[in-house]
Amino acid sequence: MAQLKVGLIGGGGIASAHIKGYREHAEKIGITAVADAVEETAAARGGELGATAYTDYGRMIAAEELDAVDICLPHHLHRDAIVAAAQAGKHILCEKPLCLTADEAADVRAAVSANGVTLMCAHNQLFMPAVAKAKELLDAGLLGTVYEVRTTDSFYNDFDPSTMGWRASSKTSGGGELIDTGYHPTYLMLHLAGGSPVEATAMLSTHRLKFMDGEDSAQVLIRFDNGVVGQLVTSWAYQPAAGTERFSVVGELGSLRSDGNSLTTQLRSGETHTYDLEPVDTFMAEIGHFADSLLGNTRPLHTEQEGIAVLGILLAAYEGARTETIAPIR
Ligand SMILES: NC(=O)c1ccc[n+]([C@@H]2O[C@H](COP(=O)([O-])OP(=O)(O)OC[C@H]3O[C@@H](n4cnc5c(N)ncnc54)[C@H](O)[C@@H]3O)[C@@H](O)[C@H]2O)c1
Repeated sequence: MAQLKVGLIGGGGIASAHIKGYREHAEKIGITAVADAVEETAAARGGELGATAYTDYGRMIAAEELDAVDICLPHHLHRDAIVAAAQAGKHILCEKPLCLTADEAADVRAAVSANGVTLMCAHNQLFMPAVAKAKELLDAGLLGTVYEVRTTDSFYNDFDPSTMGWRASSKTSGGGELIDTGYHPTYLMLHLAGGSPVEATAMLSTHRLKFMDGEDSAQVLIRFDNGVVGQLVTSWAYQPAAGTERFSVVGELGSLRSDGNSLTTQLRSGETHTYDLEPVDTFMAEIGHFADSLLGNTRPLHTEQEGIAVLGILLAAYEGARTETIAPIR
């Protein structure tokens, strides 16, 4: 029997990746109940997991003895589920984005702090070994003062109107590609930049997925309070050109770059080094980190604090694009 009991809220696509993580860490953490608004989905996940199935997550939270919930819902439902879980004293793992607006973020912050629960943002790409190694090298001062961070997360997405579901509507997704897949290169940017974001702007485009309400591609500029300037590119319209970095950082003493797997450092002194790192399943690592944070009472890598900072960047980027200005991060 796992030490921590989790209620899964939303048993759709990404839940499968999370479930693999719970299986990997079964002695520490396991799903004992599942809620999905679609009865067949709830029943199928319940059968698969040997967990009690509900169609109403509020009833699940009230009826089950849970330590935590794992929220894998469409974006417009995140805030309400976080608040309900926090008010019931449950710890929370929440898929990206944390929520959709500044008002929702204020509700999340208040509910988590008033109830003394831990919220971890499911920022799985932080568990890529190249990211962890880069962060360690930056924190050790390898590049000295950092000037520039670039992140990219683009791929050719074969969505069509019949398969896109809630992601096609900005009411349920919160925007377009930028607040969805673009959330990943934004938290990665925040993590590597090491400061607080102060202003941002964006150019948004719809190159190919014209049936979406929102953009299918975005280029974002972000300034941080430590002087770092970030450039971010994200798209569902196209595969990036060969050789485009997944992330790179330039500082006074040199640079580092990664394709997401290996990491190469190149110092102005002429020294270069390539780290060949074993890939990991980032979702499995994420679930393990959630369990360890709860069992050891330690702070997860990213809590609602970083989730809200990431949302702040994206809301300013959208505002900057809409008003053709550089918008402050509120
Ligand atoms: N980290 C990643 O790489 C990654 C990848 C995909 C999705 N995600 C995130 O995961 C979340 C879910 O995305 P998905 O692709 O699994 O979506 P999905 O549409 O496949 O699954 C959502 C599930 O929620 C259920 N649901 C809807 N309303 C509900 C309600 N009120 N109560 C209970 N269940 C309800 C639906 O029936 C569905 O089964 C999103 O936040 C998304 O951005 C993250």
